Amino acid sequence: MTKPRIGTFLSVVLTLLVVYALVKWGIPALSREVTSLPFPLPVPGTLMFFYMMLTIIALFLIVTFSDEGLNDFLRPVKKLLRGGYTKILRAVVLTAIPAVIGWQVYEITVPKVEVPSSLRIQHPSSNFPKSFEDKKNPIASLTAADVDAFIEQAKANEVQFIAQVQEDIDHWLEEVDPEHVLEFFPQGSMKKLLTEIAAGEVNRETAKAALSEKNLFEGRALYAMNCRACHGDSVAGDGPMADGFKLRPINFTDNGTIETIVEGYTFWRVSNGGPGLPAEATPWDSAMPEWKLSLAEEQRWRIIQAEYDLAQKTPRIPESH
Ligand code: HEC
Repeated sequence: MTKPRIGTFLSVVLTLLVVYALVKWGIPALSREVTSLPFPLPVPGTLMFFYMMLTIIALFLIVTFSDEGLNDFLRPVKKLLRGGYTKILRAVVLTAIPAVIGWQVYEITVPKVEVPSSLRIQHPSSNFPKSFEDKKNPIASLTAADVDAFIEQAKANEVQFIAQVQEDIDHWLEEVDPEHVLEFFPQGSMKKLLTEIAAGEVNRETAKAALSEKNLFEGRALYAMNCRACHGDSVAGDGPMADGFKLRPINFTDNGTIETIVEGYTFWRVSNGGPGLPAEATPWDSAMPEWKLSLAEEQRWRIIQAEYDLAQKTPRIPESH
């Protein structure tokens, strides 16, 4: 049985076409299967260049490996140039090659008018549930009952902390062995509260300020655990992971960010993250995680209070007020 032979020249051309097609369409199609995203991942131009150069080098080595190989490769080329495939075909090929090259050079050099790349809408609200608009931060807006409960806890030296900071506080208690757990806090309002407790006369304003300090401490701790990597210690969007994202984590100290939105919107953004954003928030996808999956509502509010405080900003007041 004789193997059907296609000439060396034709097999070189076919190999180049197959490799090009694999990189151009095969890899994106495979990427869709692997990632199950609704769109294919494109292959960067430099990678295509790399693959094609490697293929050309490999083919060059194969063809020039022996004189027979090279002659085999050149035979159809020579035949064409001698007019062996009719003079018309030769004329067509010899006109087409410079024409195609000329056209490509023209395409590359001619100045183009391009549509400006669309701006991303930072605060798209089309799918923002209106019921969130008036939401108030339950941690930041302390009720009389919250303050009273705190005064009772402080008097009995049994102040409750969130589980995430309790271990550190217990550790500190063991090391320092203070009179009162609230000595942990250096703030003036805490010191004042402790003096007032000792004197047996607690002012509710002092207690409220002290409770607010405690809440901020817990909020900052939760922020450091969950948000700092991206949004940074200084809440300026410069955490250690920030440079890894094309769409940078938001700088909360910038006047155009959390200060321009109502607290309910911030809560919704934190809860739903990048996946919760509507189409207007494209073309760049946000890496912001969907925090409702891993943080309880109360924890999210604590962080938001600390986030505004660290950024020295206040949320926008809802229209209805
Ligand atoms: C993996 C990195 C990452 C982490 C961790 C992260 N964020 Fe983000 N965040 C982003 C990115 C990126 C954006 C900007 C894109 C966008 O608008 O969604 C953003 C945007 C935001 C916004 C929108 C601000 C605005 O003005 O529209 C808020 C609020 C926010 N983050 C809060 C938080 C909070 C609170 C946490 C912690 C619980 C957190 N982020 C953790 C990456 C992150």
